[in-house]
Amino acid sequence: MDDSDINFNLLKRHVEQLLKIQCSNYKEDYIKRRFLSRMRSTNSATYADYLRYLKSHPDENEPLRNALTINVTEFFRDKEVWNEVKNVILPALFQQKKRISIWCAGSSTGEEPYTLAILLHDALVNHKDWSGTITATDIDEVVLAKAKAGVFEEKAIQKLPTVQIQRHFTKRPDGLYEVKQHLKDLLRFRPHDLMSGVPPVRYVDLITCRNVTIYFTEKQKDDLAHLFHAALVTDGYYIMGKTEYLGRQVENLFLAKNTSQKVFIKREKPLQPKTV
Ligand SMILES: C[S@@+](CC[C@H](N)C(=O)[O-])C[C@H]1O[C@@H](n2cnc3c(N)ncnc32)[C@H](O)[C@@H]1O
Repeated sequence: MDDSDINFNLLKRHVEQLLKIQCSNYKEDYIKRRFLSRMRSTNSATYADYLRYLKSHPDENEPLRNALTINVTEFFRDKEVWNEVKNVILPALFQQKKRISIWCAGSSTGEEPYTLAILLHDALVNHKDWSGTITATDIDEVVLAKAKAGVFEEKAIQKLPTVQIQRHFTKRPDGLYEVKQHLKDLLRFRPHDLMSGVPPVRYVDLITCRNVTIYFTEKQKDDLAHLFHAALVTDGYYIMGKTEYLGRQVENLFLAKNTSQKVFIKREKPLQPKTV
């Protein structure tokens, strides 16, 4: 191990204590790239320099947290999967029961949970005896607070059809768009670390966890698949991001329902894991 490795590990340990983000559970390359981006911005030449900078500049905590938990998101990101939720998944769930529970894990600034709320609201509107709740969680409390406020710039909603904007958003005097109360009523926001090993909700009918695990180690991804399996009801749905996949050790937990859209159904009795 050379000096650079030692200093990287020291920095990592300090960040884990400071921000309560378990860097060791993320791929090392990913963490290094995020540190390097902050090192460039703070003119720190080495990991040791950056560690000194971080210790003496408390205002660096938030930019570093943001760098580690990339929050990019958008309404109806990957349109086809939301068509699947609207036309297949929600109708199938409401055929089985009148009240459903959804968990949007890694919900960032709110675009994904509000997308779900729009679809859920549209499903409920003609069925007074149906209801549903969406629990939106993220490790980053700053983005969670933004999501809870439900206030978006025009460019965030510009791809939505006008009728949807009029139905679900109010344009404020400052030019920003605020989500209407009927969508907010379907949602609750909670801080939650997906690596904690404990789900924030149980007996969930649908989990969306999209574009979150790409930075996780294989072991962490497998643990998460077990966590989702435990949190779902029998026949509950799990939707991953388009570029994400289930590892060989956990693909037995779920049945692929729509492979291209990464939609899975919980297998109540998992198959035996494949041996390599
Ligand atoms: C790229 S955004 C994805 C947002 C949304 N799901 C989407 O697909 O548009 C990734 C989110 O995962 C969150 N995240 C990263 N690590 C996490 C963890 N260990 N527990 C919970 N959320 C985490 C980040 O804070 C960030 O908001």
